[in-house]
Amino acid sequence: LTASAVLDRAFVIGPVRPRTFGTFVEHLGRCVYHGVFEPEHPAADEDGFRTDVLELTRELGTTTVRYPGGNFVSGYRWEDGIGPSDQRTPRLDLAWHSSDPNTFGVDEFMKWTRKAGVEPMMAVNLGTRGVQEALDLLEYCNVPSGSHFADLRRAHGAEDPYRVKMWCLGNEMDGPWQIGHKTAEEYARVATETARAMRMIDPDLELVACGSSSSTMPTFGEWEATVLKGSYEYVDFVSAHAYYFEEDGDLRSFLASATNMDYFIDSVSATADYARAATKQSKQIHISFDEWNVWYQQRAESRPPSGDDWPIAPVLLEDKYNVADAVVVGNLLISLLRHSDRVHAASLAQLVNVIAPIMTENGGAAWRQTTFHPFSLTARHARGDVLRPAVHAPMMETAKHGEVPVVDLVATRDDDEAAVFVVNRSTDEPLGLEVDVRSLGSSEVIEAQTLANPDHTWQATAADSTSVLPRKNSSAAIEDGVLRIELPPVSWSVIRLR
Ligand code: AHR
Repeated sequence: LTASAVLDRAFVIGPVRPRTFGTFVEHLGRCVYHGVFEPEHPAADEDGFRTDVLELTRELGTTTVRYPGGNFVSGYRWEDGIGPSDQRTPRLDLAWHSSDPNTFGVDEFMKWTRKAGVEPMMAVNLGTRGVQEALDLLEYCNVPSGSHFADLRRAHGAEDPYRVKMWCLGNEMDGPWQIGHKTAEEYARVATETARAMRMIDPDLELVACGSSSSTMPTFGEWEATVLKGSYEYVDFVSAHAYYFEEDGDLRSFLASATNMDYFIDSVSATADYARAATKQSKQIHISFDEWNVWYQQRAESRPPSGDDWPIAPVLLEDKYNVADAVVVGNLLISLLRHSDRVHAASLAQLVNVIAPIMTENGGAAWRQTTFHPFSLTARHARGDVLRPAVHAPMMETAKHGEVPVVDLVATRDDDEAAVFVVNRSTDEPLGLEVDVRSLGSSEVIEAQTLANPDHTWQATAADSTSVLPRKNSSAAIEDGVLRIELPPVSWSVIRLR
């Protein structure tokens, strides 16, 4: 197989947006407890945070972290998680049929984000609660002093306000599984009124209205139109959520999952622009793709406990990822980058243990999944502007997405270097790629790394997370302004040029 592409420095889609590399910490399974927070762990710091997880979080290169849910937030009373830790109120978490000791709450999260060097992104509960509780939480987080909740935060040791900028107005309110699930009209009203009131405290907040939980939702499209026509003036973002997995051994369709992400983003953009026309507004609504990943939802680990069993931090959604999963994650990042004109924020769901790039053992080691690598390498090397390539590639037939190009790529460039991110989706054939880089003025390959394995089902485990890593691809070279590289089947690569 062969494919070719042309890159031109003039074809800028938009800047690389740091918030593209967000992740997500939910009170779910072992994400918070035994994930980011485990006071009894030998590597815990004075606040009970696992320093091994903090180190991996920094290495991952994540920029924003969404908190505290997810489905969890729709039943959450944030006040349960503040004040002296031994006086916190344990509660049932109905979303995941678990118990939450609430020893980790908003103050711990803010402290943790400072240590991790990330921007906090909060979600308010619009399932069982409403405008007042969202205002109370905002006051607690962002008001300097002189009011009940601001002074309570100070009494709890946080003198300075957290000044959280980005707030999600609920979570997946279109989903019948959501506690307090709403129709689009009902949600549009509560989101609008919550946003309007929150802006009375701080007009410069960046507010995210819930979009669809998946592009396969029966209400997809209509939901966004109704919600945005109702709330347009008061919100900045609409969310999108998507999870992909290999179904019934159909690897070809799975490897083409980014085709669905492209469709999702294009459809939501068009719908948001329709709402702009209908409401006679001028600003553009951006997309916060604040849950995306590979997630095998049918696997047993995704099933919450039941009956009288309400465990604290059970093993839930602990997918183990293989090489093909990592190639898809890399391809989904390519899709997010190529939409950097419209997608201004995104969150890989989630960060630790729960469908996550970072895994931990209770009391034991922390390790990297296969999906860690394309994320961290993209976060590290995507810089400057995103460029739109012109690509000529053979097509492959897929059952779910029809004909798709075998190769998918995007490039970024700043004054110092350019980077090409590329996947070969062929399940069995290597691909020779030629990229015309004359316009970039690049004459040498700084480094090329490829993630692939003869057995694409290889998974990292606690015992062996390093046998398969991105490796130097020595086939990459530039001659006469043309970059040439050999891409193995089912592979993701980054090529840095100067
Ligand atoms: O990320 C796991 C779950 O997926 C989240 O709680 C929910 O928002 C989505 O359905």
